[in-house]
Amino acid sequence: MGLIARYLFSTLSIVTSLVSCDFASTLRDTESLSQFAQLLGNYTDVYGALSWSQSFTLLAPSNDAMEKIPYTSLNRYFSNNETAFIRQLLQYHVLQGMIRSEMLNGDLGFYPTWLRESDGEIPVGVTGGQRVALVRQPGDLEDVVTVVSGGGARSTVTDANIDAENCIIHIVDSVLIPPMGWYNTSSAYDLDAASGFFTAAGSTPDNFTDVTVFAPKNSAFQRINSVWSDMGNATLRETAGYHVVPNNLLYSSDLVNGTRLNTTSGEEVTIWFFGGQTYVNSAKIVQADLLFSNGAIHVIDNVLSPNATSVLPDPQIATQAPVIAGSLVSSEIRDIPFTSYIPCLSDCPVPSSTETFMPTTTRSTRTTSATGFAATSSGACPGQTYAPVGLIGGVAMGILGVI
Ligand SMILES: *[C@@H]1O[C@H](CO)[C@@H](O)[C@H](O)[C@H]1NC(C)=O
Ligand SMILES: *[C@@H]1O[C@H](CO)[C@@H](O)[C@H](O)[C@H]1NC(C)=O
Ligand SMILES: *[C@@H]1O[C@H](CO)[C@@H](O)[C@H](O)[C@H]1NC(C)=O
Ligand SMILES: *[C@@H]1O[C@H](CO)[C@@H](O)[C@H](O)[C@H]1NC(C)=O
Ligand SMILES: *[C@@H]1O[C@H](CO)[C@@H](O)[C@H](O)[C@H]1NC(C)=O
Ligand SMILES: *[C@@H]1O[C@H](CO)[C@@H](O)[C@H](O)[C@H]1NC(C)=O
Ligand SMILES: *[C@@H]1O[C@H](CO)[C@@H](O)[C@H](O)[C@H]1NC(C)=O
Ligand SMILES: *[C@@H]1O[C@H](CO)[C@@H](O)[C@H](O)[C@H]1NC(C)=O
Repeated sequence: MGLIARYLFSTLSIVTSLVSCDFASTLRDTESLSQFAQLLGNYTDVYGALSWSQSFTLLAPSNDAMEKIPYTSLNRYFSNNETAFIRQLLQYHVLQGMIRSEMLNGDLGFYPTWLRESDGEIPVGVTGGQRVALVRQPGDLEDVVTVVSGGGARSTVTDANIDAENCIIHIVDSVLIPPMGWYNTSSAYDLDAASGFFTAAGSTPDNFTDVTVFAPKNSAFQRINSVWSDMGNATLRETAGYHVVPNNLLYSSDLVNGTRLNTTSGEEVTIWFFGGQTYVNSAKIVQADLLFSNGAIHVIDNVLSPNATSVLPDPQIATQAPVIAGSLVSSEIRDIPFTSYIPCLSDCPVPSSTETFMPTTTRSTRTTSATGFAATSSGACPGQTYAPVGLIGGVAMGILGVI
């Protein structure tokens, strides 16, 4: 492959004269893209493939966008020059086919990119290429096109529809964030309990492909904190599996009133539309369409139960009653459960010399033998909870909160 790529690159001058997409000269002639052009030029395989392609759309970060990288979660990869990651990041900036801004509307549209293979640091568990969401909203002077990428990161198109024949370039004001793995994505949101819950059950959503995840937010788990200690592993596994719909990737715009969806638990969930809201059984979707490596996450306000498959929401009330027996009322809310199950991924505590005699499991998750699953956050990795970095945390609320 390397040889072929190099061959492609060395013959690029010929190639560009054969195919009509002259993105290279457009990049060269657009001063605000000089930094991105230089980066892309260093990845000769991606550059070569673009030169060959008959039709694509490039979301090209401006120099201002490139200069913001040190303040984003991408900094680590650039400061360490992690080329496998950066190659995938570049692929994520290329949409399949020609997408002009006139083709977009006020609903999020999900467009497949060239990020199709898990051959770098970023796992890809979505068939047909990781998606980028595009939405066009009418503005006073001009329509505004917003790009929503992994973890809800938002970029704005500052210069749309630059035509190079057979390809289109849109300049964006922030580098896109590729959809990351389950733990990276959940840690940027209010999903620590869900993350630990799936881990405790032995299978996280990135064990499946093209997956739709209904992830209860932390406060939903707080209401059922006391219940877990009485539940066995089998119930925990079945309940966790009831939140995961594999091989059926559904963005909010794909959900249909009354549809039943198969979950990994074997039981079905039902989608309901009432009063402008979307519900899964009786749990309300409070934030939709978070992109992660293996599909989409919809955040819900209650934990689902495979024992309560036919509950309906009451659209008259804002907060639906919990469906898990033994749930607490809000005045009894306790700690966020399950967070001690989240594995430590960065800046993990190194045992001091006095601790090295202890079994290694003491740091992690097994503080639970006496109290069942109701572990508190005390065992969690420092910095694990709430780590919105730069452009990531919560930025998508504005347009994604409402569906
Ligand atoms: C591109 O590669 C050159 C030479 O290997 C290096 O000096 C430069 O910093 C790289 N540029 C970018 C933007 O990665
Ligand atoms: C993914 O998580 C790791 C470890 O916590 C962190 O260093 C990295 O910046 C994250 N990447 C993104 C793109 O969020
Ligand atoms: C990153 O590494 C690649 C391959 O080793 C090298 O060609 C490139 O110049 C490096 N980029 C920077 C900015 O150091
Ligand atoms: C889920 O994926 C993780 C990490 O890839 C792996 O360690 C684990 O064994 C998988 N679990 C199942 C049930 O396949
Ligand atoms: C429950 O699962 C955990 C690991 O996930 C295991 O250590 C424990 O022994 C299991 N408990 C029972 C009763 O099987
Ligand atoms: C759910 O699974 C059953 C049994 O495998 C299958 O017959 C049915 O078509 C599936 N339903 C959906 C909506 O995929
Ligand atoms: C969804 O379906 C239910 C049951 O058929 C119906 O009562 C409800 O009005 C439907 N919602 C919308 C928005 O059509
Ligand atoms: C569902 O019902 C079974 C049988 O009564 C019980 O063992 C299990 O704990 C229940 N699950 C939940 C989540 O309440």
